Amino acid sequence: MHAPKRIAVTGAAGQIGYALLFRIASGDLLGPDQPVILHLLDLPRALGALNGIRMELDDCAFPLLQQVVITDDPLTAFRDIDLAILVGAQPRSKGMERKDLLAANANIFAEQGRALNAVARRDVKVLVVGNPANTNALIAMTAAPDLAPSCFSAMIRLDQNRAQAMLAQHLHQPVDRVSQLVVWGNHSPTMYPDYRHAEVDGRPAPLAVGDESWNQEVFIPTVAQRGTAVIEARGLSSAASAANAALDHMRDWVCGSAGRWVSMALPSDGSYGIATGIFFGVPVVCHGGQIERVAGLDINAFAREKLQRAEDELRQERAAVEHLLH
Ligand code: NAI
Repeated sequence: MHAPKRIAVTGAAGQIGYALLFRIASGDLLGPDQPVILHLLDLPRALGALNGIRMELDDCAFPLLQQVVITDDPLTAFRDIDLAILVGAQPRSKGMERKDLLAANANIFAEQGRALNAVARRDVKVLVVGNPANTNALIAMTAAPDLAPSCFSAMIRLDQNRAQAMLAQHLHQPVDRVSQLVVWGNHSPTMYPDYRHAEVDGRPAPLAVGDESWNQEVFIPTVAQRGTAVIEARGLSSAASAANAALDHMRDWVCGSAGRWVSMALPSDGSYGIATGIFFGVPVVCHGGQIERVAGLDINAFAREKLQRAEDELRQERAAVEHLLH
């Protein structure tokens, strides 16, 4: 048995937390030989609920779960952690404007970035899930100057999984026959699910689909609006699928993606002509705990327009929180 890994989950008393924690503790994230210690952070008013979750975790008798820390203090939550999944965020309430939501969450992620900077392991891997995820990741990274920017990422994997499932269903193929599908940009309706380089059952996806109007008029808008469709159907936002995507993202980062392309939102390095200073969803492969961008993909005029739209939106989000980035 290996030494335990410490994994922090924020917003742990929320609905994504509830779908995530039991899977981490059962070994779905780091495998059947890796013991874990969970550090659960939530607001003071949620500590009672967190205690209930700890009781349930105990009652599962998970062999890999060595300890559960519950706290409302980010410094306790992030001390010596190996991995952080930052889910906790303020939801948009009635009448709240987008800029107010950005500001409220910016403060949360600035505080958590400072705490990570102070007490997390220097090779910590941080995944931001709480929305607006890309910009929250930028804020946390900026507040943590002693940690390498490569410690930070934001989640666009749910969008990738949604796009992959939709393409597979359209072509009547099992989902695992779809590879090299990319989601670019922001985790928002401006995202660009892109199957121009994908293969489905060994065939180029654009050939297999054979209908560019389906791509532009059905596929892209349906993937972009999937979160809203789930809310309308379920009365609640996506939780199990979001938790599953967080596990997929982290597992690939830590354990490797075995050559598969996966999409992650990372600090832009200027590649593909995307401005630096924002977190942007790009295709990557992971091995040995490192992330390597997939380079050299062709960006045609349609793709360029989509990338530009996402970049513009992310620059606007950044402008709204600029005061927290110094
Ligand atoms: P939820 O409202 O059920 O849970 C959020 C939890 O965060 C609550 O327990 C709340 O007390 C806690 N929280 C709020 N502020 C906190 C703080 N400062 N520190 C620690 N905990 C705090 O929400 P749910 O459904 O679990 O979603 C969480 C976030 O994930 C939302 O921002 C949602 O928009 C986002 N999300 C992101 C997705 C993505 O693909 N990136 C997909 C789905 C959801």
